[in-house]
Amino acid sequence: MKERIAGRRPIGIFDSGVGGLTVLRALRRRLPGESFLYLGDTARLPYGTKSPGTVQRYALNAARHLVDHGVRLLVVACNTASSSALPELAAACPIPVVGVVEPGVRAALRLGASRIGVIGTEGTIRSGSYQSAIARLGEGVSVRAAACPLFVPLAEEGWGDHPVTDQVARHYLEPLLQWGAGALILGCTHYPLLRPSLERVAGPGVELVDSASAVAEAVARIPEAAAPSTSGSGAGEVYIHLTDASDHFLRVARMILDGPPRHLEVVHLGEG
Ligand code: DGL
Repeated sequence: MKERIAGRRPIGIFDSGVGGLTVLRALRRRLPGESFLYLGDTARLPYGTKSPGTVQRYALNAARHLVDHGVRLLVVACNTASSSALPELAAACPIPVVGVVEPGVRAALRLGASRIGVIGTEGTIRSGSYQSAIARLGEGVSVRAAACPLFVPLAEEGWGDHPVTDQVARHYLEPLLQWGAGALILGCTHYPLLRPSLERVAGPGVELVDSASAVAEAVARIPEAAAPSTSGSGAGEVYIHLTDASDHFLRVARMILDGPPRHLEVVHLGEG
């Protein structure tokens, strides 16, 4: 049954799966009383191994679904979609669109490291989005990037603090650590869910940069996000739409939302 979204128009967020929940968590902290409509495209996860054209098509389907459900601002809580489809999304949507790459880069540059490592999906790393944003915004900063395709399934599985994840992380991070990265951008919204293992492997000398709070700050500065009153119907609610019912998603959502989601619907996205 289709559930009506009460009160003021929500902020829309999408990702392929659970990763964007890390951004939702930061947004809820920064904008308490706001309501959110989160779309997890669980039927088509992962995005990170798909070609840019396919990711663009999926992202446009997701955005259209959220716009049709009345969101007043769109957060692309997926680095792969932000890297491959941000200009297309901004052109297609009649509302402000915020991606995750630039806020993450700005947060990393504020730490002052001269060598920044970036980890992300194959799609994100191949797009060069982080490499070019760092070249544009960080004078004299060098960057090395590594694709970590096994991290998304480990995060979906909930293995954020697990010896298998430690071992996989050692394999992916070793070259960046040996090179001397002082900061490591978690260039996929799934990766903060692996933080315990990543911190253990990276060690205390490397700052892990999660773009979620930087994205929440960027959203809060947009006039359309202006804080609503913290009461009234719909205030503070999180509506979740999934393209496939997923136990993995629900397990992580329960953890991030401090309880089971109150509003959950399985939806079909129109193809475009
Ligand atoms: N969480 C997404 C990202 O930030 C996508 C992961 C995936 O579906 O491969 O890239």
